[in-house]
Amino acid sequence: MSQSPGPSTQDPSTRKITLEELKTHNTRNDAWIALKGSVYNVTDYANKHPGGYQAIQQGFGIDATKLFNQVHSYVNFEKILAGKKIGVLSPTKNTLE
Ligand code: HEM
Repeated sequence: MSQSPGPSTQDPSTRKITLEELKTHNTRNDAWIALKGSVYNVTDYANKHPGGYQAIQQGFGIDATKLFNQVHSYVNFEKILAGKKIGVLSPTKNTLE
């Protein structure tokens, strides 16, 4: 019996995630956010977000870098979300704004 590693067991530093895949994870029980090229699972963090659930919810399933920086570019999300990284965003023209 062998178990093949599913996507969730892949190394987050190399796992590539497209915008298409990202946008399917936009619900209360399955929330991903892309920030500065990295994709994070924020399902748990969203309930603890100091700015409230509804604010962070705006970033579910999208590249929220711009939104994030508009509100609190000084926040160290890499530190806060350490261990929540799932993968890296596949670059497309739509992610480079
Ligand atoms: C996913 C990563 C995010 C992390 C780690 C994060 C973290 C934080 C932290 C630490 C604060 C408190 C800041 C302070 O007290 O100065 C905060 C506040 C806030 N955040 Fe986020 N945030 C995230 C995403 C977002 C997104 C996508 C939005 C969308 C608009 C947002 C909107 C806000 C707002 C409105 C506040 C309140 C700002 C205020 O107190 O004036 N956050 N967030």
